[in-house]
Amino acid sequence: MTTRPMVIAANWKMHKLRAEAIEYVADLSTWMDDELGDGVRGLQVVVAPTCTSLEQSVEQSPPFAIFAQNMHQADQGAFTGEVGPAMLRDVGVQGVILGHSERRQYFNETDEALAEKVQAALAFQLRPMLCVGESLDERRAGTAEAFVEHQLRSALSGVDAEAAASSLYVAYEPIWAIGTGETATPDLAQQMHALIRSVLADLFGAAIAQQVPVLYGGSVKPANALELLSQADIDGALVGGAALEVDSFSGIIEAGRQALAAPVA
Ligand code: PGA
Repeated sequence: MTTRPMVIAANWKMHKLRAEAIEYVADLSTWMDDELGDGVRGLQVVVAPTCTSLEQSVEQSPPFAIFAQNMHQADQGAFTGEVGPAMLRDVGVQGVILGHSERRQYFNETDEALAEKVQAALAFQLRPMLCVGESLDERRAGTAEAFVEHQLRSALSGVDAEAAASSLYVAYEPIWAIGTGETATPDLAQQMHALIRSVLADLFGAAIAQQVPVLYGGSVKPANALELLSQADIDGALVGGAALEVDSFSGIIEAGRQALAAPVA
């Protein structure tokens, strides 16, 4: 039986002004206090606001972790417009989403930069949530697995096993399923998650691969979450659109709780 947590994460992307962020964090905190009490063993909730709402979100001391959505790899320097790991630590965030496909696609984030970002996050005690995932072209060409494996190996090859065991999250997000309403079938997602775990085993050893949570992302909603989260190697969800409202995000947290309570054999 797995000891991995179930991780339900909200990626707000470029949404919400500060007042909206305050209200969301307060409402989700209330919902969690009411519904989950002192917390559910093994269930972790993460919210990734925009940079402008990070500090106040942390200051609300919510019962969930606050992550950033991106980070520069350098401690400091002449990188106009960027925010580095020391700054995120200073604000009090606990982790950072790295390599989201929108960062790779629109901001030319490379595998090389990501390898440095993962290392920088770990060096500053920020938990990296590394996103990987193929495009529709790669899926149609039959190269999805090789593509995802390459993304993983290039971002993680310099990471030591201890750090991976204690800090790393991976999120598999097929690009063709992000924001499109099209979700990978649970079987297809499970197959890729199993491949991801085998790559993690090759990099860090089988025991540590069993400890790293691998989340699925791409049009997760309350209606499809339970089936996805019940797959053996799916340890959580990274949610965009359906995480923008507390009502629907809390439905996905609830699905995570149910999947934890009835784990697959
Ligand atoms: P989506 O986004 O849930 O809106 O598909 C997921 C993500 O990009 O993290």
